[in-house]
Formats: sequence, structure tokens, C-alpha cells
Amino acid sequence: MVHVKRICCIGAGYVGGPTCSVIAQMCPEIVVTVVDVNKERIRAWNSDQLPIFEPGLQEVVEACRGVNLFFSSDIDKAVREADIIFISVNTPTKTFGLGKGRAADLKYIEACARHIAEVATGYKVVVEKSTVPVRAAESIQRIFSANTKSNLSFQVLSNPEFLAEGTAIVDLKNPDRVLIGGDETVEGQRAIETLSSIYEHWVPKSRIITTSTWSSELSKLAANAFLAQRISSINSISALCEVTGADVEEVAHAIGTDQRIGNRFLKASVGFGGSCFQKDVLNLVYLCEALNLPEVARYWQQVIEINEYQRRRFASRIISCLFNTVTDKKIALLGFAFKKDTGDTRESSSIHISKYLMDEGAQLHIYDPKVKKEQIMQDLSHSSTSMDDPERVLSLVSIASDPYEACDNAHAIVICTEWDIFKELDYEKIYKAMLKPAFIFDGRRILDSLHDWLQQLGFQVETIGKKISQRIPFTASAISKQDLQAPPLKKIKI
Ligand SMILES: NC(=O)c1ccc[n+]([C@@H]2O[C@H](COP(=O)([O-])OP(=O)(O)OC[C@H]3O[C@@H](n4cnc5c(N)ncnc54)[C@H](O)[C@@H]3O)[C@@H](O)[C@H]2O)c1
Repeated sequence: MVHVKRICCIGAGYVGGPTCSVIAQMCPEIVVTVVDVNKERIRAWNSDQLPIFEPGLQEVVEACRGVNLFFSSDIDKAVREADIIFISVNTPTKTFGLGKGRAADLKYIEACARHIAEVATGYKVVVEKSTVPVRAAESIQRIFSANTKSNLSFQVLSNPEFLAEGTAIVDLKNPDRVLIGGDETVEGQRAIETLSSIYEHWVPKSRIITTSTWSSELSKLAANAFLAQRISSINSISALCEVTGADVEEVAHAIGTDQRIGNRFLKASVGFGGSCFQKDVLNLVYLCEALNLPEVARYWQQVIEINEYQRRRFASRIISCLFNTVTDKKIALLGFAFKKDTGDTRESSSIHISKYLMDEGAQLHIYDPKVKKEQIMQDLSHSSTSMDDPERVLSLVSIASDPYEACDNAHAIVICTEWDIFKELDYEKIYKAMLKPAFIFDGRRILDSLHDWLQQLGFQVETIGKKISQRIPFTASAISKQDLQAPPLKKIKI
């Protein structure tokens, strides 16, 4: 086992930054350097305005930064000095070429591997922390073997990260498990022990699982696929609830108390977002197709289809409730991050709902407590998910500085992110300032306890997986089954 003095992490993003900050805090005798090609990101990590918002992160960074935690653009130096090198770079879905829209793009991983092989000397444990397809470690190892120098040797490990944005620091400090996969050789086992010794500073050994490299890589994809599948499962039931009069929250509670099922991840909503679920499920689908397992591929593909269906269904419902037209209507969209307690908007359902409504000519007034205006504008005019040019987005979208401003004179409020502050708004004041009839579309089921009161105020309340307001007769007959299945917009490109 190597006595670790220095760790380098390549990639200062949502995984690299928080993970290495916690390692630095838990291992004060180890110097941890997080590096990135993005100089702006590194500058932000060294400032008071961290590049990502994550509860508790600022405190951890401030406790260690400049002591044993460093953020740097000098990748070569950090790689050269490190005993362990984490690769935490992004692995997005490919947007062109073979496997477009499904396979993971490993170009950043490969660039890291080549760079490490070029500048490193001595013995290094290289840890694949990014989420990758099965056998990616083999590719990294091959790049190392093909570029080997006499004074250089490597062991490649898989150590996928299971943190969830919004609770990353809690997850990292008290993980359900740490997974380390490596070669079954003596050298492989020694490298596993070395990495395990880092986590053993604060994680009980019983929670450190060691496996083969391939099992570890596949476990991460499978874990995300299972989580996404639970959301799609309950969302599919929510559609059924809306037409039968059942309430998906009651159904979720009833089935979740069965210990074999469990109650986590059974919250019906406007659909899952985030940088990982869709990407990793698509990656799994692609892998199955490539390995000639079409039935398995189709099974997992359906998880994505239901997610898209849920978003379309919600957008269709907004349009049909608003008398089948939202053209030129002011709609307040509350929440743009893909979930609460993060500023991350990657694959957020808010983007998709916004696009459906923009395609119908709605005037969107968006408020999110943690997402910057530039980010929202960029997400809505980004060419891979929208045909909208930035000029059109500018003419249809305004960013509000508070929720009251967003709702003022609006026809409808659409809640897309479950931020706690949206439960505490002064809805009486909001109702008075809205056009009538005033609608609330609760895409996150966060206003359940307020539904009666909101209705007393005069709101027409629409939510996921439950029929609440008596529809205005014109609207009810106008929602044909066909409308719900045929989206108001062309299918969004993945
Ligand atoms: N975000 C999550 O919640 C989460 C959770 C678990 C696992 N993951 C996985 O972790 C990986 C990283 O995710 P993320 O959300 O941190 O991504 P991110 O985009 O926030 O960060 C990746 C960083 O890597 C940097 N980078 C890319 N190529 C580089 C190179 N060659 N040299 C130096 N820096 C380079 C980028 O500039 C970027 O700052 C992905 O594979 C993701 O699937 C993410």
C-alpha cells in the first residue's frame, strides 16, 4: 500500500470540487489539489463566489482552502506530484457521430489519460471517478500501456461517485457506500487498499465495497438507471391517477410502506432532470444495443420515454387549461434548477416546459433563487435542444428578480422546481395581482397542504397525479386524449 501524501483531481465541477474538498477536510495530512482546464472555474473556486451552489460546501472549502486544499490551473505540476489522480471530468452524451444522442462521449477522459501519461513519472494510482461505460478503465489502461515510459507505472481503479446534488456534502461525509473496483492482481488489490485507506479516515470499512473494475463501472450506470426508473414508474402511475380520481401521493405512500419497495424516490413530478439520469440511462441503452441485447435496451429506453411523456403531458395540460392557447399570455415559471438546493440546470424539466410554452408563443417570466439570468437565456437558446434563436428567446422570456414580480399580472403560475420558498409565498397577494381565472400548476406537489386554501382564494389548482379543481367546462371537453399524447411541440432532440 502506498502512503498517500498528495492527491490531484482533474475536473473542478460538481463532483471534483465537493468530493475533494471533503477529502481534504477529512484527511488533513494529505495535500489535495483540484485542477481544471477552465481557468474561470478555478478562479471562482479561489474566490468567495464558488462556481457551484451546494449547501455546506462553502464552509468546507473555507476551512481547508490554502491549508491542504488547492484549486489550480497548473495541471502538469499537480499530476506530477500526486500519488493518486482522480479523473472527474464530464462524460456527456455524444452529440454527433456513432452513438449520437446515446453513447457517452469519452473524449475528455481520453484527453486526461493521454495528458497523465505524458507528464507523470513514478507510480500513480489513477481513479476513474467520472461515470463511464463498462470497460472504459480498460481503454485508459491501454492508453497508459501504449505510452509507457521506463520511469512510469499505473494502476487504474474505478470509484464512481454517488453524491446527489443538493445534498452532496452530507452524502460525501456519510455515504451509504463507497465503491472501489480494480484488477484482481496483487498490484490491483494494493491500489484498492491505497484508495480505501483515504476513505477509511471517515467511512466505516464495512461500507467500503470492493469489486472488479467492470462490476464497479456497471454498478454506477445501473444505480442511476434504477433511480430514474422509480421516478418514471411513479410518474406513469400519476397519469393513471389523473384520469381515475386516485391520488398519486396516497398511492406512493401506500406502496412505499412495503419494505420491499421502500419510500424513497417515489415522488411524482414533472419529470427528472440533472446531468446524470438521462445521460446514464441512454448510455446503458446504447451499451445493451451494442452488445446485442435489444430487449434489455428497449426496457431501459422506456424510462426515458416516460420522462419525456410526463413533461409533454404537463405542458399540454397547462395549454389546455388556459383555454387551449397561451399565445401572448404571461406565465410565471417558478424554478429553473433541475431540483432544489442547486443552481444546476442541466437537463432540467423547466427547460423542456419552457420550450413547449415558448413554441406556443407564451410570454414566460422566470424566477429561480439560484440560477443566473445568463444561464437561463443560454439554456433556452441552446441549439441542441431548441430551434429558437436568441432574439426570439429574448422577446418571449423575462427573468424576474423575485417571485411576486414574476406572478404580477400573470395568467398562470407553473412550479417546476421544489424550492422550499415557493411553499411560503403570500399567495393571497399573488392572487390579487393575477389575471382571472388564476391558475397554479404544481409540477412538484409542493403545495399539497395549501390546495384547499388556494382554492378558497379563487385559484384553479392543477397538480401532478391528482384531480383537484373542477375544470371550467369549456376546458374539460377541450382536453382530448389525443392532445395529451401528441405534444404541442416537435419531439425534443436528445
Ligand atoms: N453532477 C453530479 O451530480 C454527478 C454525480 C455523480 C457522478 N457524476 C459524474 O461525474 C462526472 C463529472 O460530472 P460533473 O457534474 O462534475 O461535471 P462538470 O461538467 O461540472 O465538471 C467537469 C469539469 O471537468 C473539466 N475538464 C474537462 N476536461 C478536462 C481536462 N482534459 N483537463 C482538466 N479539466 C477538464 C471541465 O472544464 C469541467 O469543469 C461525470 O462523468 C458525471 O456523470 C456527476
